[in-house]
Amino acid sequence: MITDTDCTPRVTYPERRSGLRLNRSEHCFSLVDQIGAQKMKLNQSAALIWELCDGERSVSEITMSLSNIYEVPLAKMLDDVVATLGAFDASDAMRYRLRQYVWRSSSESSRIQYLRISDGMLGLLEQFRALVFDGLRVERVTASDIDLGRAGLERAKANSVSQSTQPKSGVLKFNHLYDHPKYSVLLARIEAGVREIVTDIETTLTVSLCAAYQPGGRMGWHTNDDNPGRRVYCTWAETDRSNFFRYEDPDNNAINTDWESRGWTIKTFYLPPKPDQLWHCIQANSLRLAIGFAEAQFTRVNRLPAVATNVA
Ligand SMILES: [Fe+2]
Repeated sequence: MITDTDCTPRVTYPERRSGLRLNRSEHCFSLVDQIGAQKMKLNQSAALIWELCDGERSVSEITMSLSNIYEVPLAKMLDDVVATLGAFDASDAMRYRLRQYVWRSSSESSRIQYLRISDGMLGLLEQFRALVFDGLRVERVTASDIDLGRAGLERAKANSVSQSTQPKSGVLKFNHLYDHPKYSVLLARIEAGVREIVTDIETTLTVSLCAAYQPGGRMGWHTNDDNPGRRVYCTWAETDRSNFFRYEDPDNNAINTDWESRGWTIKTFYLPPKPDQLWHCIQANSLRLAIGFAEAQFTRVNRLPAVATNVA
């Protein structure tokens, strides 16, 4: 049984140790303690990283700031930031503050299960996010013509919308990344991480979706009954409870709206074949990233997966 605490997304925020301050001389920077003794020498970018370690910015946010200042691609900047933070950590100049997000209580009847994210997995997902954000032009879109309400659902049912035919707006596939050498390596490592978390996957996993949703983006009601089976989705939301995954419960036809927490979330659910399709749709009011994995072959119907709770 997964508790709400177990599946609360966590993000680490680097925070400077108190009692240390940045000393600037003409050509160099150093960290000095309360009596003025030098603890570490820093170059200019390390000094900047130190100043950004305020316990409020995540590693990705620090990386994005540096990337803008030095005009260096995010993926390359991330390596430098991680190395510098490692040096701070080794010198006991900084600590990682773990922030837990407020999590809604999960319903017993929910068809979605949330998975605990290990720190290692979070690191991979953050690297992926840095890669995706590099060169991504964020634009707010309007998709009011895609009806995610009951009327839109009934229309989709009348038209037997599966996967390929559903309306969507502001959903960007990561096509620009496919030639990036880091892309496939990271995806493979993330897939391996998913397999560690969801231990009863019996078949190979395929990537079912890898996309960014622009703020305002929507994916209309559909079922994926042309490719039924289990899905494991790693999603990232820019702000708390602004994006949702909405589905109609086949048991009672209730429409459930599952608001996503800020940061990374990993969830799993089944998309059954006909006649028990799970009608679902997505709204992103803030920037949203999604990496979805599908079991290659559907072997079980209407059974929630057993989920390991022993992830470190
Ligand atoms: Fe879908």
